[in-house]
Amino acid sequence: MQLIYLDYNASTPIDPAVAAAMRPFLSEHYGNPSSGHWAATMAKAALEAARGQAAALLGCHRDEIVFTSGGSEANNFALKGPFFALRDKGNHIITTRVEHPAILEPSCFLERLGANVTYLPVDGTGRIDPDDLRKAISSRTILVSIMHANNEVGTIQPIEDCARIAHEHGALFHTDAAQSVGKIATSVNDLGIDLLSIAGHKVYAPKGIGALFVRRGVVLEALIHGAGHEGGRRAGTESALLAVALGKACELARDLTSMDRVRALRDRLWQGLQRQFGDGVLLNGHPVHRLPNTLNVSFVGRVGAEILARADGMAASTGSACHADRIELSPVLRAMGIAPELGMGAIRFSLGRSTTRDEIDAALERLTDVLAVAR
Ligand SMILES: Cc1ncc(COP(=O)(O)O)c(C=O)c1O
Repeated sequence: MQLIYLDYNASTPIDPAVAAAMRPFLSEHYGNPSSGHWAATMAKAALEAARGQAAALLGCHRDEIVFTSGGSEANNFALKGPFFALRDKGNHIITTRVEHPAILEPSCFLERLGANVTYLPVDGTGRIDPDDLRKAISSRTILVSIMHANNEVGTIQPIEDCARIAHEHGALFHTDAAQSVGKIATSVNDLGIDLLSIAGHKVYAPKGIGALFVRRGVVLEALIHGAGHEGGRRAGTESALLAVALGKACELARDLTSMDRVRALRDRLWQGLQRQFGDGVLLNGHPVHRLPNTLNVSFVGRVGAEILARADGMAASTGSACHADRIELSPVLRAMGIAPELGMGAIRFSLGRSTTRDEIDAALERLTDVLAVAR
């Protein structure tokens, strides 16, 4: 049976060039990058080269990149860092209802410590209205955190407008770009960003590495205290192995040309589904402002988890979870106002660099078979 992988938003395979870049660091280059002797030289140089590659992807300075253990840590740092550093200025944070749990959970945690958090609503396509931000922001607002693109439906937020509004009110602007790097342009200066999170395993690097861009001059309280690694911003001996992987992945992610092919395949899947199921399939997410690799659809009157359970060998994600005897929609679909009977049939297909036309056609065939039987 042909295996079909359409879950790149969950995780990507390690790119062969990334694996090749890592190999010497699994054997000969074992030194601690902070040591002063010969064994550190290669590790230190590689760490800094990797920082430069990540900086080149984001269009920032090398010293503005802080390596983390992944997207969740970068997001935690981006929220908790300003909260603890800017207590004198205010305690108000603005985010949205469609953020990843790696933003929503630290937000709840900070509320327990006295933060006042506003969660902006979204429209039916998953987009926020910058006017809602304008109404919510005040002189007590220290941070606005709005994701660049949503992991479930792929909707891209009006980041430039939101960053401008944040800055007009003296607030920092953070974006969770875990899903957007390597898929759409992510220049921190074009977008007007102060803090930006990336996650290695979403861009063909391994799990366990990510980074936070911290604009020069922005002061954050460290999340992990210890020795002075990462310019005193993140303690813990750096992994040259993982940094090299992220660096190579960032270098590859600068070339967005493969996304034209991915978009065409994504659209082929959508057109095939429409041809096959007509009104029985609906698009979730923004029709235009959407990641080129993401297709979230609802199979009307069906249950996404059941479809995927029957579609042997096909990896994709549902937008709902079964809890005991009831089906619970994801907070993202709920925030978008998707009716439960539609949301329960939601499936996210996310494509990547290695997706082939053959795989898309096989996916369409398998879905057609599964849904015909289910009917
Ligand atoms: C939008 C978004 N932010 C953050 C994360 C968390 O990243 P990590 O798995 O590297 O902690 C994810 C992962 O699913 C994500 O999709």
